Amino acid sequence: MLWVGTSWKMNGTLDFARDYATRLAAALADGAPAGVQPFVIPPATALATVRECLGPGTPVLLGVQNAHWEDAGAWTGEISVPQAAEAGATMIEIGHSERREFFAETDETVNLKVRSTLRHGLRPVLCVGESAEVFEASGSVDHVLGQVAAALDGVADPSPVVIAYEPIWAIGEHGREAHPADIAPVFAALADTWGGRVTAIVYGGSVNSGNILAILRVPGVEGLFVGRAAWTVEGYLRVLELASAAVPTRS
Ligand code: PGA
Repeated sequence: MLWVGTSWKMNGTLDFARDYATRLAAALADGAPAGVQPFVIPPATALATVRECLGPGTPVLLGVQNAHWEDAGAWTGEISVPQAAEAGATMIEIGHSERREFFAETDETVNLKVRSTLRHGLRPVLCVGESAEVFEASGSVDHVLGQVAAALDGVADPSPVVIAYEPIWAIGEHGREAHPADIAPVFAALADTWGGRVTAIVYGGSVNSGNILAILRVPGVEGLFVGRAAWTVEGYLRVLELASAAVPTRS
């Protein structure tokens, strides 16, 4: 099964969310494309709307882009894992590079969030990835394995976790597309250490309809985590279809 999701980051009004989710529901009325598990991570404010528009029985899983590790309390501006679950999330994105860089997320807080998510029976989408400097110094494998080990420290059963390897240099409008050879060593190392022990190990960073097939051919890649290319519902549906088409070509 390929796990293929998108985070909208801080984009989208409720009108946008309604339109996107209604059209996604219609397109997936007969189920998800073969071999693909879709997931959508809208802004938390749009989660209930997206859930409602997708309707009961949808194959699309929903998540939030961050959650605090405490269940409740004096943490202004935060939402907790149980609150996210109540709004319809079954997945919690944790440790995206934008949160690590701009919101002071550390390996320690990432670990606390992973543990809270698992404690409540939700699925962490654990984001890891190295900077351009680390990549150029050939440090990617050590860096990423270290981030995953720190995030999963003390976790007895990591099986619900989706690991998203997203090299920072490949993310967003200033990112450059990764070549399969750039990411293959990291996937080989992740598969070696975590393959079969987690739900999926997926790739993110400038994924688009032109590079999906090449990325999915990299051994160890078990899905995609997509930003810009899935910020229209047509774009996301195209990503899902391309991923599904790639399933039979994978060993
Ligand atoms: P991008 O974002 O696909 O727009 O590069 C990826 C991500 O941040 O997960």
